[in-house]
Amino acid sequence: MYIKIGRDYNDLSIDTAKIIAGHIRAMPNTLVCLAAGNTPLGAFRELVAMQERGEVDLSSVWYAGLDEWVGLGPDDEGSCANVMNDALYKVIQKERIRIFDGLDSDSDRQCREMENWIKSHGGISFTLLGIGMNGHIGFNEPGTPDVDGCFTVALDDVTKSVSKKYFGKELPVTTGITIGWRTLFNAQSVVLMSSGKDKAPIVKAALQESQTPNVPASLFQNHSNLSVMLDNDAASLIVPI
Ligand code: F6R
Repeated sequence: MYIKIGRDYNDLSIDTAKIIAGHIRAMPNTLVCLAAGNTPLGAFRELVAMQERGEVDLSSVWYAGLDEWVGLGPDDEGSCANVMNDALYKVIQKERIRIFDGLDSDSDRQCREMENWIKSHGGISFTLLGIGMNGHIGFNEPGTPDVDGCFTVALDDVTKSVSKKYFGKELPVTTGITIGWRTLFNAQSVVLMSSGKDKAPIVKAALQESQTPNVPASLFQNHSNLSVMLDNDAASLIVPI
């Protein structure tokens, strides 16, 4: 595991964008999976700026949307699709992207379609993850099963309460649809990104305590090509080894 600690959020975002762009240049036409949420927004801003400067072609890879709140569609503020469209997908050819639609009630079909999308592109080559306050990655909540593919999950209470930050109000979200952690783990390259003091305890648990499905991010500790990108605050409980 490689851990890089940036001075601040801006540093972290620029460094993470450079890693993503480097992967896209090195492995065009492969499939990448990038988390939504607040943490990667700075990196996405930087990636869009890099594309404007001609430093990367974001339409040279394919995209799999990591997860979605069941019941919310792309037009709903705070949905993963809404966040990703605004931050990144708006500058990418639409046919390059497959996402979950939280308004489509046939979740099983959506899961099978996403699994086929992933298989047809030779698996995921690069995964960018954020980490939830409860250690979740995507919507792989604490206690997540070790199964290949995609599934729906009952959202953890912590996830439900944190969700207000995306919607500006409390919404009755209870279920998520997600790519499973094993499929994400199978990527050649994984970047886990985290920022802020409130994440420091869970970052410490994920990286320096025992691996457990109760902290899904910890399951990535022995990935052969894991880069952990932190700012000083998120790294404040990490013990140098
Ligand atoms: C979002 C996702 C979530 C977030 C995590 C951290 O697509 O998969 O697992 O990465 O909840 O969210 P932020 O970055 O908002 O703290």
